[in-house]
Amino acid sequence: MKASNLIKVNETNFEFHLTNKSISYVFRVLENSKQLEHLYYGKNIHHSSSFDYLIERESRPANNLYEDNHTSSFEHTKQEYPSFGTTDFREPAFLIKNPAGDKITHFAYEDYTVLEGKPKIEGLPATYTELDSEAETLCIHLKDIYTDLKLNLYYTIYKDHPVITRRSEFINVGSQNHFLESAMSMSIDFPEDNFELLHLNGAWARENHVSREPLTVGKKSLSSARGASGPVNNPFLALVREETTEHSGEAYGFSFVYSGNFKAQVEVNTYNVSRVMMGINPFNFSWKLEPNETFSTPEVVMVYSDKGLNKMSQTYHNLYRSRLARGKWRDTDRPILINSWEATYYDFNEDKILDIAKQSAELGIELFVLDDGWFGQRDTDDGSLGNWTVDKRKLPNGLNVLSEKIHDLGMKFGLWFEPEMVSKDTKIFKENPNWVIHVPGKNVSHGRNQYILDFSNPDVVNNLFNQMDNILSDVKIEYIKWDMNRYISEAYSSHLNADRQGELFHRYILGVYSLFERLQEKYPDILFESCAGGGGRFDPGMLYYSPQIWASDDTDAIERLKIQYGTSMVYPLSSIGSHVSEIPNHQVGRNTPIETRANVAFFGTFGYELDITKLSSEEKNIVSEQIAFFKKYRTLIHSGNFYRLKSPFNSNEVGWMVVSQNRTEALIGYYQVLSQPNAPYERLKLKGLDENKKYKVSPGNEIRYGNDLENIGLLFSQNNHKRKSSYWSQNNKSDFNSRILHIEEV
Ligand code: DGJ
Repeated sequence: MKASNLIKVNETNFEFHLTNKSISYVFRVLENSKQLEHLYYGKNIHHSSSFDYLIERESRPANNLYEDNHTSSFEHTKQEYPSFGTTDFREPAFLIKNPAGDKITHFAYEDYTVLEGKPKIEGLPATYTELDSEAETLCIHLKDIYTDLKLNLYYTIYKDHPVITRRSEFINVGSQNHFLESAMSMSIDFPEDNFELLHLNGAWARENHVSREPLTVGKKSLSSARGASGPVNNPFLALVREETTEHSGEAYGFSFVYSGNFKAQVEVNTYNVSRVMMGINPFNFSWKLEPNETFSTPEVVMVYSDKGLNKMSQTYHNLYRSRLARGKWRDTDRPILINSWEATYYDFNEDKILDIAKQSAELGIELFVLDDGWFGQRDTDDGSLGNWTVDKRKLPNGLNVLSEKIHDLGMKFGLWFEPEMVSKDTKIFKENPNWVIHVPGKNVSHGRNQYILDFSNPDVVNNLFNQMDNILSDVKIEYIKWDMNRYISEAYSSHLNADRQGELFHRYILGVYSLFERLQEKYPDILFESCAGGGGRFDPGMLYYSPQIWASDDTDAIERLKIQYGTSMVYPLSSIGSHVSEIPNHQVGRNTPIETRANVAFFGTFGYELDITKLSSEEKNIVSEQIAFFKKYRTLIHSGNFYRLKSPFNSNEVGWMVVSQNRTEALIGYYQVLSQPNAPYERLKLKGLDENKKYKVSPGNEIRYGNDLENIGLLFSQNNHKRKSSYWSQNNKSDFNSRILHIEEV
């Protein structure tokens, strides 16, 4: 065995074992074909000089690779990165069209390298290490025995997280072109189907709802073909056991660090093998790999939990907030913001904005964000995108003066952009019709009256960089909201040759990433919040560039319980954009108390999105208390461990809590959707506390042990006359009631 801390290699029998104190991942090189056989992934196991005992091999009726060998069928071999066209009839992890037109490859093992730390992926977002000692990376080098194509499979195992990341890389070292028609980032054949599939799905204004269903024979594919990860399926899936709960049981998470078209699929065959794969959506994808070119896939982050969904989520949270999010804002307290959108929509002028900003500053709000409508002549959603110059009708003194006046109030200033879009009435559209994604001579569909700029074309990206740079170099701006409000149709780029049209979707998102990269290199202090009509591009790729993402255009507190609960399955609270908005709510017309609106929004980045000048003085007092509260607890909220306690998907009551890393303090959010007559007693059992520590529960004076709070819980009854220790306030006889409790070690 070759010595390495996290990657153990049995040199004689070509077995690889990635392991840390929580997980193990084992595969080997097949003796005959030199392709890779998957052996195990799950809770950590002892290293062994041979993992032979994990091999399942039986002669069955099947196509076999070798004559006189009736167990050389890939249909009956668990694989690491299955190929197409020989003896396996399931979906392969990659598909390559060779110069002769055939699609047969045979990537055989050549050698491996082990690297300290984690290499970057050029042009793509990815998790990273700060110190080489945090992780080790195994690269398996394979070569097609028929052509001059090479394949590298990368596996990084983190030392202190139950995490392995995977990706692949195709290199053309020959002299002819090949076409990649599919290039998934990872594939695993689990030797069983004893799982349920958990995933996040939805639509505009109801993103990231949680679904869970048993696996059955056949394929279940979650995907996007719209040019962004989209709200319909999040680029995430988990395999969980039937008995897995939030707090117990196994969960295998797969999360894709990518913002474009993706596919996440489980295929169960009749032999109870579950093939999980994830990567760029092969539908409508084709990539011409010219001689000396390399194609790198984005990475998949695989998390194993033996303690339920909360542990899986906490692993993602810890990794994503510390080793995916980057830059100054990764570890800096996020400012409490007020956003102008629901306050004014397009109808504002300098006085109105300053009025809102002034009253916000008086209440303690730290950042004013001027949303859509400040540029061109944009009074509705039908124009001016792509003309990023200030509208002097609304802001006659320009952005500079407005920003100065806002800064004079002691606030930071933020601005909305939708860089990828263009409206017909702009110079950029009229002068460069071919910069719009469309097929010349054919109808082009609009979405929200707007068209999509071809970000696969570097000239387009340059233009947008220059337009944004003009503003950013002139105006003091500390925050940018980067919006994206429609998806790609009539996908065709006038910039790409006919044989490269299948590259458009991927090149588009690489263009988006490159604009982020350039802006952030020049303006490293700006806080970016990404957005796509709400959470339409809430994915780990975006998180790399923007540590916070607007979770949904639905700002209703009750709807947000589901959206934020689901979003927290993968994404940390510090990334979940959440605001208090006015009532009746603009999306659903519901009237919720201002306390509940904040009590939900506290478990996110927190801000306001309403015309604060219209609040009564009583409401303003409440708002100012909410702001003081969030300032006091935001570090705890954004850096603690989040526990989901009671799900809005199957209960009228919802509970969650965040516990400080040292378990001395916690904040609990408890919510009642509808008020019920003569309701049963409810107990909220807490999690994550130190069972031997005593904690004071506030409001109130109860002192309870951690194990008492975890096993007995807090009583929430509606009308407990006997004791005052029900944690509802006196008047809970109303719908949409909620409560925040604080717990501190005494
Ligand atoms: C959609 C976003 O999600 C909203 O918050 C707002 O910015 C609008 N776009 C502006 O057009």
